[in-house]
Amino acid sequence: MQLTPLAVGFGATIEGMDLRQADAGTAELLRAALLEYGLLVIRGQSLTPRDQVLATNVFGKPEVFPTMRGQLSGWPEIFRVASRAEDGHVDVGRYWHSDGSFREDPTPISFWYSEVQSEEGGDTLFTDLQQAYAELQPDIQEEFDTLSTAHRNGVVHPLVLRHPKTGTRALYLNIGLTAGVLGYSADHSKALMAAVDRHYSRPDATYVHHWLPGDVVVADNLHVAHKATPITPSTRRILNRTTVRADGVIWSNPAPEAGAPRPAP
Ligand SMILES: [Fe+2]
Repeated sequence: MQLTPLAVGFGATIEGMDLRQADAGTAELLRAALLEYGLLVIRGQSLTPRDQVLATNVFGKPEVFPTMRGQLSGWPEIFRVASRAEDGHVDVGRYWHSDGSFREDPTPISFWYSEVQSEEGGDTLFTDLQQAYAELQPDIQEEFDTLSTAHRNGVVHPLVLRHPKTGTRALYLNIGLTAGVLGYSADHSKALMAAVDRHYSRPDATYVHHWLPGDVVVADNLHVAHKATPITPSTRRILNRTTVRADGVIWSNPAPEAGAPRPAP
């Protein structure tokens, strides 16, 4: 397995990997890479729905979804993102978001497998939420550290979320599903959200993933956000998405280095 960091400054491509063959050692390498880079791009895979669910288990227990039009019968773990309604969900976030941000405990990890992909359209953009926070002016960081945002469904999160494993701060905002900032007027909320939206999209900060059939992309949703670009039903595309439950996630847990003090039993 060969890991190459993406030029954008977050994320990495992994080559020489067949996810169907991932043993315990490989699984830990994948978890460590995801924790460090926030986004993994693994091309050239060939996964049945069962293979995808098994590969998702590397990162934790999958969420399950109600049966809906276009969903795969017998695989409630797989949420299909598609260009045609008969194939899956066409109304996906064309704004910066992390999947499952509307949950009380946000969805920590998303895993997409490209089953059918046309040549044109439907790229996915990614941006680094931790870097977005790190690049704010100190006075803005101080202000943002005190703020919380409400989703349209009433769920409230701090605007600055600490990663549950690393503690690193991230600027966490769903641009499409957030109703506003607590304690701010509608206009002030709108202005803040527009500013964060522009900040996420700042020059050279985003990675554009152009999908090929067989691509797997795995995102740490507390480290990166993503955004869909348009695709028309005249072209056919199906992405099978699995997501990891917040209460079932497995973060990388590196073994203590040789000579390092071991925790008391
Ligand atoms: Fe999404």
